[in-house]
Amino acid sequence: MEKIWSGFYKKNINERLEVIEQADILSEEYLSVLRNNEVLDFDMANNMVENVIGTFSLPFSVVPNFIVDNKEYVVPFITEEPSVVAACSNAGKIVAKSGGFKTEVLDRKMIGHVALYNIANTVEAVERILQSKDLLLKTADEAYPSIVARGGGARDIEVKVLSEDGTDFVVVYLIVDTLEAMGANMLNTMLEALKFSLESLTEGVALMAILSNYATRSLVTAKCAIPFENLGENGEYLAKRIELASKFAKADVYRAATHNKGIFNGIDSVVIASGNDWRAIEASCQSYAAKDGKYQGLSTWRCDEEAKMLIGGITLPMPVASVGGSIGINPTVKVARGLLNNPDAKTLASILVSVGLAQNLAALKALVGDGIQKGHMKLHAKSLAILAGATNDNIELIVEELRKEKHMNLASAKKIVEKYNK
Ligand code: HMG
Repeated sequence: MEKIWSGFYKKNINERLEVIEQADILSEEYLSVLRNNEVLDFDMANNMVENVIGTFSLPFSVVPNFIVDNKEYVVPFITEEPSVVAACSNAGKIVAKSGGFKTEVLDRKMIGHVALYNIANTVEAVERILQSKDLLLKTADEAYPSIVARGGGARDIEVKVLSEDGTDFVVVYLIVDTLEAMGANMLNTMLEALKFSLESLTEGVALMAILSNYATRSLVTAKCAIPFENLGENGEYLAKRIELASKFAKADVYRAATHNKGIFNGIDSVVIASGNDWRAIEASCQSYAAKDGKYQGLSTWRCDEEAKMLIGGITLPMPVASVGGSIGINPTVKVARGLLNNPDAKTLASILVSVGLAQNLAALKALVGDGIQKGHMKLHAKSLAILAGATNDNIELIVEELRKEKHMNLASAKKIVEKYNK
């Protein structure tokens, strides 16, 4: 299978669709969505959100030959940023040659909370809540019986007393198995149903009841082990510098923010393609980056000198869904899920966390090697040419000339375009 994807990026769109057809991963219905560039229609969009005046498009790409837990995936990417797809393809290819990514889904539950205040005796309030745990779990389940019928539902309750600026809060955390759904509405319904019982148990006042996006019960780990030689001629040198880059991203918050931005270049692209809520995933993972009291790089790379391997790992909260939201509505999302063979929520989460690690590997390899500009700017040249006014007829020639320029910027692009448009 690997061979049919090699040089995929050098093909034109029709040839790429032929390769997808040849790979036999999409039904005829989904292939025709791609051939006709079918997108979300206005009426559908108008029913999804408020004040709609149109729809908005972004490029739909794929990263082929991406191996996770011994399965090969063609990963859908929605991104406007040049070099992101190339970078993930590049790292995915290196890791595929090294045995692929291995993942572990540590848990798949969602957390929500009810915050209460004005409580005279917080210690007694906490005790009463814990004594009533079974009843509270039953109340939560009764508020959302359909998830219980499917085999999910409320699983546990934890309580904390938190103080801020002279105010004590009793916070009740509800832990729910939401199965294939992200579960925001489910949690919010259950939590609101608990408010009254909690107010009477604590003799306090409920401030709010809401899902938490800090999804520490939905952690997923992805790992890879890359023989030094698979990183290229100077593989050992690069591996050692990637290890240093990983340490640097733990030490310096300015670096950590960029290191993690690179990881989300990939994750956000696939979360969007899969129809999931990328703001929720960003909130979840960015808060997880500060879990030890300091914002840090989310991935870790180290060298195993004996095995002569670079070992990479990342653990992230990844509470994505395979049902709900826009997943069953948007035709492009249906195709994107089709490319991944309609994964369940846990499989999708494993792919996403692996994509994050791949994206990070590509960026670090470039940063500690030739520098990021060589690869990134080479691909950014097309965007510059378009901005400068290149057309479909002359863009390839303009890009070729632009890449030879000492200063590859908009001014240089404009000069070349002027020459061609004379
Ligand atoms: P290269 O070594 O010149 O690539 O890398 P190659 O020609 O040897 O090709 C190797 C493979 O890369 C190909 O395999 C493709 O899979 C892929 P093949 O198909 O030939 O068997 N590939 C491409 N895929 C699609 N389109 C292309 C393409 N070229 C190669 N045009 C590359 C070139 C750009 C991939 C490399 O330099 C790279 O990975 N750079 C990293 C770029 C990057 O990370 N970009 C993200 C945006 S920058 C940013 O925002 C994040 C950052 O700040 C994060 C951080 O600081 O940590 C950097």
